[in-house]
Amino acid sequence: MWSLVRQALVGSLAVWSVAAELTFVAEAVIEHDGTVVDVTSQLDFVKVPPRQRWQHRSPRRPNAPPGRGANTKRDTISYSGNWCGASQHSTTQDQIVSSFSYFTAPNLKLRPRIPQTQYAAAWVGIDGASCTQALFQAGVTTVVNANGGQSSNAWWQWYPEASFQIKGVPVKPGDWMSVNVTAINATTGRIVISNVQQGYSVTLNVSNGPRLCRVDTEWIVEDFYEGDTGQQVPFAWFDDLWFVDAAAKTVKGKSIGINGAAMVQLQNENGTLVCKAEKYDNANFVAIAG
Ligand SMILES: *[C@@H]1O[C@H](CO)[C@@H](O)[C@H](O)[C@H]1NC(C)=O
Ligand SMILES: *[C@@H]1O[C@H](CO)[C@@H](O)[C@H](O)[C@H]1NC(C)=O
Ligand SMILES: *[C@@H]1O[C@H](CO)[C@@H](O)[C@H](O)[C@H]1NC(C)=O
Ligand SMILES: *[C@@H]1O[C@H](CO)[C@@H](O)[C@H](O)[C@H]1NC(C)=O
Repeated sequence: MWSLVRQALVGSLAVWSVAAELTFVAEAVIEHDGTVVDVTSQLDFVKVPPRQRWQHRSPRRPNAPPGRGANTKRDTISYSGNWCGASQHSTTQDQIVSSFSYFTAPNLKLRPRIPQTQYAAAWVGIDGASCTQALFQAGVTTVVNANGGQSSNAWWQWYPEASFQIKGVPVKPGDWMSVNVTAINATTGRIVISNVQQGYSVTLNVSNGPRLCRVDTEWIVEDFYEGDTGQQVPFAWFDDLWFVDAAAKTVKGKSIGINGAAMVQLQNENGTLVCKAEKYDNANFVAIAG
């Protein structure tokens, strides 16, 4: 399916200066069924309040069998009130430089017996778990309304700064996406977010970001907290969501996959497992709605 991205056209360049510090330069690479797209009008960023980060919750004892396969012994199962996926750690002696994965944009169905207009987000990031002051991430959020109608949008965020919707990358639920989040150093980063299925890609160089620790990386499906209300959104039911070719690279050139990651399971406020992350192998895992 990824061969759909054929020769790419480099589109416009745009420079933003957000607040006094964070700045970013964006470039669109767009090839849409062989047709040149007017990237200037498409390369649009809409600032939205920052999503809030992981609400730490003390790990509970597993109440469900861990993932399949012989490797699961090496993997830690942990529980979160808003995350489902894999969280991997490196060290300050060999910091994380980049993190990558293909994944599908969440394809949602309404979950019964909870308020309607429901959501799920999927993203790749650096420093979500143990570094409290920053998180550099990009992904896709899908919303499903009371009629079952859905829409998806791509976004990026350098927490605790604002989040930006990326209008230049159209997304439909279920589309294959890829995200590469790179921390060139603690305050300079690059994001490449692509809709590999439709042939759109945006590259962003971001400067003067909040200082990263570069010690962990995450591949996550999230029941996120809305930035403006601080409330957790109703979490939709979703089709199995695969993270494929997930890997991070370190300063010393090591490749870190899913082996040894904490596989994070999402328990809602009532303790019900609403998403489990199951490892398939070192590069692939699936998040399954429960
Ligand atoms: C980002 O930086 C790299 C390396 O400096 C450069 O090659 C690339 O053109 C830049 N892209 C944008 C969108 O500024
Ligand atoms: C992600 O981007 C970085 C920096 O441009 C690059 O070194 C790395 O190879 C990329 N990773 C993948 C999997 O494409
Ligand atoms: C990070 O890299 C950028 C671009 O090369 C440079 O301007 C900046 O001073 C560096 N920052 C740190 C903290 O090393
Ligand atoms: C948790 O349980 C309460 C009381 O039964 C219910 O009102 C609420 O909707 C439940 N929350 C979720 C997310 O299912």
